[in-house]
Amino acid sequence: MLSQKSPSLWLPLLARLPLASPSSLYARAPTNSTYDWNKVPLDYEDESMGTTKVAFIKYPSKNESAEDLLFNFGGPGGSGIGTLIPLAPDLAEVYGSGVNLVSFDPRGVNNTGPALDCFPGDPATRHMFGSGYFRTVPDSGSDSAATQFYLAEALGNWCNDAIGGPNGTAQYVNTPAVANDMLRFVELQSFTNGKPKEDAKLWYNGYSYGTALGATFATLHPDRVGRMILDGVEDPENYYNGLWSNNLLTADAGVDNFVTSCFAAGPEACVMYESSTDQIHSRLSSVIANLKEKPVPVWNSSVVGMPVLATYADLTNVLLLSLYFPLASFPKVAQIMVDLEQGHGESLIVSKKISFRSDCQAEASFDGLQASMMILCTDSDGRGRINSVEEYQDYVEDLQRQSKYIGNAWAINRMNCHSIDVVPPKSGKFSGITGADTSFPILFIGNVFDPVTPLASARRVSSHFPRSVVLAVDAPGLIRTVKLHKQIHTGIFGRIGSTI
Ligand SMILES: *[C@@H]1O[C@H](CO)[C@@H](O)[C@H](O)[C@H]1NC(C)=O
Ligand SMILES: *[C@@H]1O[C@H](CO)[C@@H](O)[C@H](O)[C@H]1NC(C)=O
Ligand SMILES: *[C@@H]1O[C@H](CO)[C@@H](O)[C@H](O)[C@H]1NC(C)=O
Ligand SMILES: *[C@@H]1O[C@H](CO)[C@@H](O)[C@H](O)[C@H]1NC(C)=O
Ligand SMILES: *[C@@H]1O[C@H](CO)[C@@H](O)[C@H](O)[C@H]1NC(C)=O
Repeated sequence: MLSQKSPSLWLPLLARLPLASPSSLYARAPTNSTYDWNKVPLDYEDESMGTTKVAFIKYPSKNESAEDLLFNFGGPGGSGIGTLIPLAPDLAEVYGSGVNLVSFDPRGVNNTGPALDCFPGDPATRHMFGSGYFRTVPDSGSDSAATQFYLAEALGNWCNDAIGGPNGTAQYVNTPAVANDMLRFVELQSFTNGKPKEDAKLWYNGYSYGTALGATFATLHPDRVGRMILDGVEDPENYYNGLWSNNLLTADAGVDNFVTSCFAAGPEACVMYESSTDQIHSRLSSVIANLKEKPVPVWNSSVVGMPVLATYADLTNVLLLSLYFPLASFPKVAQIMVDLEQGHGESLIVSKKISFRSDCQAEASFDGLQASMMILCTDSDGRGRINSVEEYQDYVEDLQRQSKYIGNAWAINRMNCHSIDVVPPKSGKFSGITGADTSFPILFIGNVFDPVTPLASARRVSSHFPRSVVLAVDAPGLIRTVKLHKQIHTGIFGRIGSTI
């Protein structure tokens, strides 16, 4: 399902890559029962706190001696299982028979415990609240900022009550705990294969939020890094400090890229084409400005279940996500803009539903947006709190200076944490990426026009890890295409070892 996407560091459209049949590529069907651990300690330093279950899925290679390669595709709050299933055929082709493809639902996510539901047993209410709340976008007006600020206070306290505040199970879901689950996994595999568990090393490929998870692992267990590729790097220091303040450095360059691509594509391929990039730019700006003043009513019952408005907030969010996957999304964005010019909001509403929150959410037992909020707020552990409406407005203005198009859509990530009171145990406290000489050099990858994980972050994180390297890809978007991935891969697992 494509509806569980969080506002933060998701890779929302990954699941739309074309599929082949997994059975043609694997010796066996994917397995998970073997790796469904029912007895993972909630707290690795205090096993008396109880256990939880972590769900893994594995696509075994036909090669008996293949290494397990673990994936995290982004989040926080993203289901590794839900993402790997449709991607496995493509990834198998990219990575070849030297690895088994493995992923898992991190703590608090879908099939893995502990549950992070602020509306336990009541998905319909959670959906109703989430639809109105999670994708709102503040503009500089004081009313909307104040509403968001105080509603976040209500939501945070509501969740504290539902999930247990400082002593509730939410304290066990943060990223250091997940990094330790990965270690436990590789140790167990090693042990099962008759090798000493102390020798077990992690082979890992993390995207986006998954890069913060990888960097956390590398900091905690530098001698356990087998292979590590961190692609679309977020700055873990900024993330753990709950600041969300340096993600959008190249986001507007991505929007400019939309304009230049439209111009280059010509009138046949781009419905917004004009005879200069300036004209396309001003057309884009006036659609946005008009929608901000005048939302477009939508009552077409084949698209919506009740009358709604297609709003500036919707457009800003859709624009933000489109920058993650420009190739697939730009033509749709151009069509949405033209529809809006003509007073039609249907295509915007459809796009918003596909990307963020479809109606089937009203029955789903898991809500990625809410899990995302709980995990990232627990990771920041009280740091980066916004304490007043004025501070929130200043923050929004800062973000808008970074990106005039999507800055305000980003603000909610940080603001949501201001009343959430969850305190990780000692084993979950993380004192930051202090750097470490890992047992194998890490490969960082960044795109030049990345909307939310700028190349500068890859360079900054790499500087903490001696011998690591940064591969800068001169491309828009947040992930490499599968083809490009393949070219990169041709070298990675061999070349790095021999040249660095
Ligand atoms: C994974 O395990 C669950 C139960 O734990 C089962 O319902 C599901 O079918 C399994 N999935 C696969 C792909 O084996
Ligand atoms: C099997 O996997 C191992 C470990 O990755 C690798 O060294 C070997 O080349 C692989 N063999 C084949 C035939 O892919
Ligand atoms: C959560 O897991 C269930 C199977 O247990 C699956 O049907 C559902 O699509 C998953 N949700 C997400 C968001 O991956
Ligand atoms: C949380 O646990 C600590 C230590 O057991 C206790 O002192 C404190 O009162 C608890 N707080 C709440 C809100 O239950
Ligand atoms: C309602 O939406 C559908 C699907 O987008 C479209 O085919 C149809 O023409 C719309 N109806 C009207 C009256 O706009």
